[in-house]
Amino acid sequence: MKQYFKTDEWSVIEENFDPAHNKVSESVFSIGNGRMGQRANFEEQYSGKTLQGNYVAGIYYPDKTRVGWWKNGYPEYFAKVLNATNWIGIGIEIDYEILDLAQCEVLEFRRELNMKEGYLERSFTARLKSGKEVKVSSKRFCSIVNSETAVIRYSITPLNFDAKLKITPFLDADVKNEDSNYDEKFWDEVFKEAKYGQAFVTVRTKKTGFHLCTGMMFDIFQDGHKIEYQSQPIEKEKFVANKVSKTAAKGVETVIYKYVACITSENHEKETLPIICKQLLENAHAHGYENMLAEQAEAWGDKWKESDIIIDGDTAAQQGIRFNIFQLNQTYTGEDERLNIGPKGFTGEKYGGSTYWDTEAYCLPFYLATAPQKVARNLLIYRHKHLQKAIENAAKLGFNKGAALYPMVTMNGEECHNEWEITFEEIHRNGAIAFAIYDYVRYTGDESYLAEFGLDVLIGISRFWSQRITFSEQKQQYVMLGVTGPNEYENNINNNWYTNTIALWTMKYCLEAMEKLSKTSKSRLNEILKNLSFEKETETARWNSIIANMYLPSDEKLGIFLQQDGYLDKEQILVKDLPKEDRPLNQKWSWDRILRSCFIKQADVLQGIFLFEENFDIETIRRNYDFYEPRTVHESSLSPCVHAIIAAKLGDRDRAYEFYLRTSRLDIDDYNNDTEDGCHTTSMAGTWMSVVMGFGGMRVRNNELYFAPFLPNDWKSLSFKIRFRGNLLQIIINPNSILIKNISGNAISLSVFETKHSIESGKTKEIEHLNK
Ligand code: BGC
Repeated sequence: MKQYFKTDEWSVIEENFDPAHNKVSESVFSIGNGRMGQRANFEEQYSGKTLQGNYVAGIYYPDKTRVGWWKNGYPEYFAKVLNATNWIGIGIEIDYEILDLAQCEVLEFRRELNMKEGYLERSFTARLKSGKEVKVSSKRFCSIVNSETAVIRYSITPLNFDAKLKITPFLDADVKNEDSNYDEKFWDEVFKEAKYGQAFVTVRTKKTGFHLCTGMMFDIFQDGHKIEYQSQPIEKEKFVANKVSKTAAKGVETVIYKYVACITSENHEKETLPIICKQLLENAHAHGYENMLAEQAEAWGDKWKESDIIIDGDTAAQQGIRFNIFQLNQTYTGEDERLNIGPKGFTGEKYGGSTYWDTEAYCLPFYLATAPQKVARNLLIYRHKHLQKAIENAAKLGFNKGAALYPMVTMNGEECHNEWEITFEEIHRNGAIAFAIYDYVRYTGDESYLAEFGLDVLIGISRFWSQRITFSEQKQQYVMLGVTGPNEYENNINNNWYTNTIALWTMKYCLEAMEKLSKTSKSRLNEILKNLSFEKETETARWNSIIANMYLPSDEKLGIFLQQDGYLDKEQILVKDLPKEDRPLNQKWSWDRILRSCFIKQADVLQGIFLFEENFDIETIRRNYDFYEPRTVHESSLSPCVHAIIAAKLGDRDRAYEFYLRTSRLDIDDYNNDTEDGCHTTSMAGTWMSVVMGFGGMRVRNNELYFAPFLPNDWKSLSFKIRFRGNLLQIIINPNSILIKNISGNAISLSVFETKHSIESGKTKEIEHLNK
């Protein structure tokens, strides 16, 4: 773990320029607004190590699958969110020398991600090869007020000479993905235009035919005054620019304001794109940079008002959690049910920007508690819309009668992952999608969701489980063979306890949901069953038989659930006994050796204990945690947060804090040595859970909130806000008490440890910890 950035409560700050660290910084300083986002690449040319990345939500390319040996059932393509038009570019030439930080001496450098107000700022002083020195500063943001616009303020000052500047703001759509399978470019040009002070370029994705139109408009100021300039329009293949020549006397600052609009055919008719783009640009330009910046700060202020977590007494922990919340809010706003949350958000290409089980298993609780209800609902509706594709996906693998297998990786509902052990075997993802429906209903109380959208999905998934599970004559029990659990360091295993458990649970929950609807919305229930040709008697009889007689592996002597059949036959070595040089295993060991070992990539049995905690007594939880934690290498970012929550529940406060710090500063400190590929955005929601569910001990029980708080040692207090069924609450945890403010909504009743409390609207209650 490296501590490279300056610790600060509201910002991430880099104070010197280390080219070797640049790609990590580009990821960490990424900005976005739910619609578009980009890595913290430089505006001016940079010939050093960089991963250029501008991404637009929902715009993808189905890159033809590339595998060594084709297997029947493999998906045709791997969807990739596309590196899209680079709109930040501003070329700078100083007396015929190109400004490029890789080619000059960097005397001072500072980069700041201001999370409070939502912008990225950078300043530096550089000495060119000629000895001329310039000072540059830039500030930019993707507007969260109008998510189709962005703006940059870029300034340059010659320090020890009178300069002839050539300034070239540009839009470059001639970009490619670093991870393309066949080294192709994914964009074709549709339209371009460069004229005085503005330029537009529209491109179309190959195969998928999405149109993306980007426009720019700019003003130049010197000595605080807007100046007239001559510009030379430039048009090249998928590239438009305006070159402006200007002199600047020593010490005089030249400022460029570059306004950008970026719109797609997902939201507008193709033919209207140039007109709408122009209109958006003119509006942004008329509104002006300062106003846009002030509105951005205000809008972020509003977001923070409801989603901030305040940690008093630990700046590193504070910075960590804010960074996570900031990135989550930059990635997904929940306004568009066609969009979802890629594991890297808008910060990199890895994982193709596609949707994984991460959304349901990790992200949903964050949006449930910190955003309006429709945000979490839209995440569920996204999957509902993909139900037919999930049924087709299962059919391709040989299932029938409406069985639905949701993809491991998807953009539009089609599977696009092509490693057989994941595509065909990592089917526990289906369970997470069912669990998310339960989680949403449990949290919001919105039972109407089941009748409206939820039940169809639950039935499709239950049908899949009932076909995937087989009867073992030898065991005289139902079993599930040949799966990969959440722990991807085991493949093709039999009876993964987690997968068996969540499959069983899905069928139970689906039956309960039907039962509930038979009382509350009988006609709707009948309609759903008819539409799905549900054969009530035979189908439910099979489900009930599985529920009554499913095999769940366990070891009686150790008193633990077994990750899978035969897990204990493996040589049992603990992580603490692994030589340091062997870690991370996925970079140091052969895949074969990893598969043979007992080491666990990420929470697996413990993932099940986390989801179904109320089914187990504390000693069972402890035995499983004590057994599995020492064998877990946490080589997925999704792992430490689950261990943090369980450790907190078991009263292992030091470990809970250790896991929390690891998850919350994973990217800031580049813990896994891979942040240069992008941030671990989905696991950031896990960080939030580790604070609220770990230290806050928050759960929903019997339709009410429950807290079992504690404060990590050096913290003076911890405070967070949550929405719950029409109430907005602030929870402040002090060393000896918990304060609950019922900010808005009706009177609420809840529990702290085992005692019930009622809090009037607008009132605060201080409750002593019963369990210090
Ligand atoms: C994890 C998966 C996860 C994926 C995307 C993998 O390393 O093992 O559980 O879905 O990353 O975050």
